[in-house]
Amino acid sequence: MFQIFNNVPPSTGLGMKAAGTLALMGCLIAAVEPKLYTRCKLAKIFSRAGLDNYRGFSLGNWICMAYYESHYNTTAQTDLEDGSTDYGIFQINSYTWCRHAKLQEKNHCHVACSALITDDLTDAIICAKKIVKETDGMNYW
Ligand SMILES: *[C@@H]1O[C@H](CO)[C@@H](O)[C@H](O)[C@H]1NC(C)=O
Repeated sequence: MFQIFNNVPPSTGLGMKAAGTLALMGCLIAAVEPKLYTRCKLAKIFSRAGLDNYRGFSLGNWICMAYYESHYNTTAQTDLEDGSTDYGIFQINSYTWCRHAKLQEKNHCHVACSALITDDLTDAIICAKKIVKETDGMNYW
């Protein structure tokens, strides 16, 4: 009975393939909650958007920063004492980077703050790239 398993050591290509498929299935199952991205799903999105090694910051740096800032919550919103608000998965601040009507803003990302709290992370990623490029890297966060 155990003969079959003994013939297939865990380190073979077959074993690796099975592990990969399982990991992918894990991603699919975990991705049902839209507002709260899983680490796995985020890694895919970030990677496709070219964040991996963007300006020398690894995918891990970006994932870690997003977790620290919002716990991967795309709709996270934090009102600060100075009257500005931090928006979205990267908690991008309205005073300098986006437009939200109330204050006189700089809006360097040329984007409505509301676009930074949607499940589509495109605008948030474009803005985060701009911040990293135009400020002191990830020190902004
Ligand atoms: C995400 O953040 C929003 C706004 O801060 C909050 O209302 C919501 O409960 C959070 N979602 C989760 C799943 O934590």
